[in-house]
Amino acid sequence: MTAANQFNLNFKQYLQTSRVKGVAIPAGLQELLLAVADTCSTLSHEVAQGALIGLLGSAGSGNVQGEVQQKLDIIANDLLIEGVQGCKSLAGLASEEMELPVEVHGTGDYLLLFDPLDGSSNIDVNVSIGTIFSILKKQDPSTPLQTSDFLLSGRHQVAAGYVVYGPQTTMALTLGDGVVMFTLNKVTGDFVLIKDSVEIAHSTKEFAINMSNMRHWAEPVRRYVEECLAGASGERDKDFNMRWIASMVADVHRVLSRGGIFMYPWDQREPHKPGKLRLMYEANPMSFLVEQAGGASTNGEHLIMDLVPTDLHERVSVMLGSKEEIERLQHYHSQA
Ligand code: AHG
Ligand code: MN
Ligand code: MN
Repeated sequence: MTAANQFNLNFKQYLQTSRVKGVAIPAGLQELLLAVADTCSTLSHEVAQGALIGLLGSAGSGNVQGEVQQKLDIIANDLLIEGVQGCKSLAGLASEEMELPVEVHGTGDYLLLFDPLDGSSNIDVNVSIGTIFSILKKQDPSTPLQTSDFLLSGRHQVAAGYVVYGPQTTMALTLGDGVVMFTLNKVTGDFVLIKDSVEIAHSTKEFAINMSNMRHWAEPVRRYVEECLAGASGERDKDFNMRWIASMVADVHRVLSRGGIFMYPWDQREPHKPGKLRLMYEANPMSFLVEQAGGASTNGEHLIMDLVPTDLHERVSVMLGSKEEIERLQHYHSQA
């Protein structure tokens, strides 16, 4: 992606002046991306108020995944739906929090998918959380919306990104030609370009995984992590550092910012499920970003972006980040 060589561009100016592989960004896609960013800007203000506006705690309901919903899961979901209603090129949307897609204009070029609030367990403890989004090109813009329209591999994404609500509110975005980052100016409400050409170093000394699940992992993942833990005195000849924020959005932001790998692999707690994370709302958009930043993303056997979903709420085993580590993990899986 190329844009005017300035780091004080706001998001709107960025979209208007950028070229993706030499081509201007379609007006309908610009409108949709701006609507998502504006909603996340509003959400950032709400998140920052927390208990002051009664935002913390459980909503007392469950979602289609069988997970307890927090108040903020529902608020974020409703805000996003409302925020994109006016986008004429948006045929429909699907959310982690809703069983069925919502028709917006029925026909149109684009489909929006999102995890409105990622890292729900961190809301009440004031740790970084975020919003993850993915935009697919609808195969036939003229036909009425159906759930099957969404069941496309990650390769069909035309845009993907996240907004992390941390000490700063930062957005990462890819349109398929590199990764850029913006930080929210909380005075003007604008996202401002802070980084273009985001690159993930091919090698790393940092991994992220929920270690409390170690006894449930498959052998290749256990082998990989055991070797990291053995450090300089083991197979890897170097010491590793470990992080686990328990908000994928914040863990992936660290990987995009300073390298490393993030794993939420399949485990034996619920053996019939391919993993915990959702392919279409979490794994695909993050994999698109990571690949565009020079990293890789796999479920152990296949690149995540190549998986063709059969269900909107499909889950998947996820390992993503620095290329050399992902290749090592894939190799261990192929040997098992
Ligand atoms: P969500 O809040 O959208 O349900 O996603 C939470 C996910 C992900 O963000 C994170 O990496 C993982 O759950 C944390 O799971 P554990 O609590 O099992 O570590
Ligand atoms: Mn999530
Ligand atoms: Mn969520």
